[in-house]
Amino acid sequence: MALFSSKKSAARLTEPQLVPEHIGIIMDGNGRWAKKRGLPRQAGHVTGAKVFRTIAKHCEKRGIKVATFYTFSTENWKRPQEEVDAIMNLLREYLKESLADFKKENIRTRFIGDRSMLAPDIQELMAEAEEATAQKDGMILNIAINYGGQAEIATAVRAIAQDVKDGALDPDAIDETCIEQRLYTAGQPPVDLILRPSGEYRLSNFLIWQCAYAEYVFDEILWPDFTTADLDRALDVYAGRHRRFGGV
Ligand code: FPP
Repeated sequence: MALFSSKKSAARLTEPQLVPEHIGIIMDGNGRWAKKRGLPRQAGHVTGAKVFRTIAKHCEKRGIKVATFYTFSTENWKRPQEEVDAIMNLLREYLKESLADFKKENIRTRFIGDRSMLAPDIQELMAEAEEATAQKDGMILNIAINYGGQAEIATAVRAIAQDVKDGALDPDAIDETCIEQRLYTAGQPPVDLILRPSGEYRLSNFLIWQCAYAEYVFDEILWPDFTTADLDRALDVYAGRHRRFGGV
């Protein structure tokens, strides 16, 4: 079956103004993928982590400026300890491997979320990864770990309150920009496209401020089965959307 409905459709992928500047990806369906195969949930995360690497590189190839992947939410600590440990180990492995890989890629890696609850060695590896890629001028890869959109906004509000208390900020000067500047994604463009596979139709506390005008593409595919062709298809759907940002 042809991937795209027409040549025009395939060509849209290379038109910069039709490519999202910022894409958010919710890597969902790992557990169900494993269950269908009679495997432990962790096996889904192992394959999911491989898919993450492939899709992150494909985002860069497609000219996306910022790609944010939801890896672990502030609510995911409620999962069985064994599963939490498995995800943390995958992250550890990825960080170790990719410190070498980063040198070849023109990708700037950032982590968003509250890292203070993570193991000290993971925090160190994260800092190393950010430092090793800080000078890259290609795509920004945000990896969301212990991330929650509401917690992010609460953190920004606390910082604003502190500035007001210190006399550094006039309450009348508090506006949207003021909040944006205190988010983990400060300086990055707002989210244009949210992609969520696995047949779930919700945002799950992901980038809730940044998604004010985001488009959504949902897919039935489970994340471990997700391919570069699926990403291209989602980008094509996005390219066909008419965005009005409150206008007509
Ligand atoms: C959601 O699927 C997935 C997660 C909570 C974890 C995502 C983590 C990875 C893909 C590994 C990340 C690793 C690196 C290196 C970034 P689910 O478990 O909720 O699936 P289900 O809805 O089918 O149960």
